Amino acid sequence: MPDESRKTGKDRAAFLGERRNLLKAGVAMAVAPVFAGMSVVSAPAEAQAGPSKDRKNVLIISSSPRMNSNSEALSDEFMRGAREAGHQVEKIRLAEKAINYCTGCLACISDPGFCSQQDDMAEIREKMLAAEVLVLASPVYFHAMNGQMKVFVDRVCPIYTMLRDKDFYYSVSCAGGDSQVESSVNSLKVFTGSFSGCRDKGVMSITGSWDGGNVKGTRAGEKAYEMGLNA
Ligand SMILES: Cc1cc2nc3c(=O)[nH]c(=O)nc-3n(C[C@H](O)[C@H](O)[C@H](O)COP(=O)(O)O)c2cc1C
Repeated sequence: MPDESRKTGKDRAAFLGERRNLLKAGVAMAVAPVFAGMSVVSAPAEAQAGPSKDRKNVLIISSSPRMNSNSEALSDEFMRGAREAGHQVEKIRLAEKAINYCTGCLACISDPGFCSQQDDMAEIREKMLAAEVLVLASPVYFHAMNGQMKVFVDRVCPIYTMLRDKDFYYSVSCAGGDSQVESSVNSLKVFTGSFSGCRDKGVMSITGSWDGGNVKGTRAGEKAYEMGLNA
């Protein structure tokens, strides 16, 4: 395998294209077309009515690999509330994306915005820059975020100096109790704490839940909906 910290002409061209996109995304923060055509859940037409100066771009990153995930269900309730409030919301399920591990080449440290790998993270990084509100939804695995979320987190490194002034919400589910929620949310806050001017806005959680499908009809679900409504 070639030294990944050295850019070939092809890599360079791809990088310049990606950087152009990143800059566009950074400048046009509230521009909905950035989201067009992606394999994500997009807002229904009626929820896209606007425009309003208070309308925000909300991006949900969900890392549970299972379909009846509680942490994702909480983020869905948040999405329902946020759409009702008139915001533009998208959800990305990491399990449906091709995301490689960070190789630690450090190319992004000397060349912010550049990543030596070309996979689905490029589009996700653009969406993160364009979002004003981010929701990180993860199951609790061994008192922390799960592996899928951690792989994603490491691949955000190319833009960590560009991510500024975002609101963050966290959504977690665990079999244990509050201490498991706290330790896993703390593991996520170490990540978001590395961005300039980012604010922790709220935590959605459900405890005592080994099984999925446990959010419907719970107070935790209602609270997540209300949080979205007030995002
Ligand atoms: C590999 C693995 C590790 C887990 N570790 C913990 C843990 O440390 N603490 C805990 O309370 N629950 C733990 N659980 C249980 C999950 O947190 C629980 O099933 C949760 O509801 C999954 O969230 P999800 O429905 O969003 O996928 C673990 C489950 C798995 C599969």
